[in-house]
Amino acid sequence: MSEGKNIIPIASDHGGFLMKQFLIKKLEESGYTVKDFGTYSEESVDYPDFIHPLAKAVNDGVYERGIIMCGSGNGAQITANKYLHVRAGLCWNREQAKLTRQHNDANIISLPGRFVPFDEAWEMVKIFLNTPFEGGRHVRRVEKISKLL
Ligand code: RB5
Repeated sequence: MSEGKNIIPIASDHGGFLMKQFLIKKLEESGYTVKDFGTYSEESVDYPDFIHPLAKAVNDGVYERGIIMCGSGNGAQITANKYLHVRAGLCWNREQAKLTRQHNDANIISLPGRFVPFDEAWEMVKIFLNTPFEGGRHVRRVEKISKLL
């Protein structure tokens, strides 16, 4: 089922569109194959329409890790985290990108397309794609996330 580590799915609404295009270029220049789930212009759209398909594919194991964004990163992250096997971390800087992999085993990074420089977003993506989960005490914590009361 898995399309492998080197295919990276990416999705945004209009608020994240320009950042998405920038990241696609950087990813492809770095040798990744990108699966673009849209949106495909700056025309106003509803972020769940583009985030749901990506989040479902990650949830189903088609892709190991994905990248999403909207204007703030919040709507995209909230949508993706509706899926049981998705752990989407909202990241504003490199340290958060590292921690959401090391501590949360995040399989999706959510970025604020209107609030961080694109170069900084690319640094965060590289860290997100290359940082392993730390395991240890964090395994127990991550397992507890889906144990609802
Ligand atoms: C769109 O204007 C904006 O609401 C959206 O990109 C996102 O920030 C929502 O959380």
